[in-house]
Amino acid sequence: MILAPLRGVTIRCFRETFATLLREGGFTEAITPFISALPGVDPLKNEELRMRSSFFTQNSQLPVAPQFIGKDPTALRACLERVRDVGFATADLNCGCPFPMVRRKGRGSGLLRTPDVLRRLLEVGCETMGPGRFSVKARLGIDRTDELLELMPMINAFPLRFLTVHARTARQMYTGACDLEAFARIASVSKVPLVLNGDISFPPPDSPIHTFTRSPLRPTLMVGRSFVRALGEREDSGELLSRYIEVSCAELSGERPVLGRLKELIAYWKDIPRWRRLWPVIKLARTLDELRAVALTEIAPASPVGF
Ligand SMILES: Cc1cc2nc3c(=O)[nH]c(=O)nc-3n(C[C@H](O)[C@H](O)[C@H](O)COP(=O)(O)O)c2cc1C
Repeated sequence: MILAPLRGVTIRCFRETFATLLREGGFTEAITPFISALPGVDPLKNEELRMRSSFFTQNSQLPVAPQFIGKDPTALRACLERVRDVGFATADLNCGCPFPMVRRKGRGSGLLRTPDVLRRLLEVGCETMGPGRFSVKARLGIDRTDELLELMPMINAFPLRFLTVHARTARQMYTGACDLEAFARIASVSKVPLVLNGDISFPPPDSPIHTFTRSPLRPTLMVGRSFVRALGEREDSGELLSRYIEVSCAELSGERPVLGRLKELIAYWKDIPRWRRLWPVIKLARTLDELRAVALTEIAPASPVGF
């Protein structure tokens, strides 16, 4: 199971702080939130890829693939060379970002409408990282659920590590249901390993989607929001939060970015009964002491439990 990139949430600090829980939960690797592949911009300056030794030993971490977003093959090549040369074994291309500003500029899911550009990016990715080391994360299409399907003959020609399909169109953003039949149609023609993404419950199984994954297709799963939410459902969620606050304070300067980071996480917990009551106060907290007072004194620390 692969941890989904969630910008602002499944960031490096999150992956490091909760590495043990991620491993216990069955995750074997992660993809970073997207990093822009722009001419002249060094990806290693991005906080996601900053090398660090404090707090954590490297080998307790999930292997991670940097994800790039862009449409310029030369810039992508330069970024991939940088990450490859410092030891990242794999990398990923964002072909799924649904936001109109991104899409209309031909990046993210916009690449589904510019097959020649996509082909060049896949060539560069597979050449630079090597066969079986470059992956792609895409939507089913922009308006229709068969746009990615139509690109499969082209995609099949590349030695991709895998193709992740978030089984929605870009137009859907994050609303409506995932279309598993459209995913199955892609699976029936795909020559590259597929990863299924979108609304998969954590821990697996018991969402309808798992009936599908018991089929002979058995794609690997990519899970994002349900894992983040599951952290808030744990008895020890207050302690987890406390640890995240401390680690975040140690790496960020000033309270404001820490508060922003924490609110982004707790927003995923706002429908969980014990957090629902606290959320309106947390949302308005202006200092970490205010946030700590609510979150950590109201949630009695408990001993760690499994998922
Ligand atoms: C806040 C947020 C940020 C996201 N950031 C990224 C990103 O940087 N790259 C990417 O490929 N997908 C991104 N996604 C999409 C997720 O990786 C995933 O495809 C989507 O949330 C569906 O999976 P889930 O239902 O398991 O969360 C983001 C989604 C959300 C909600």
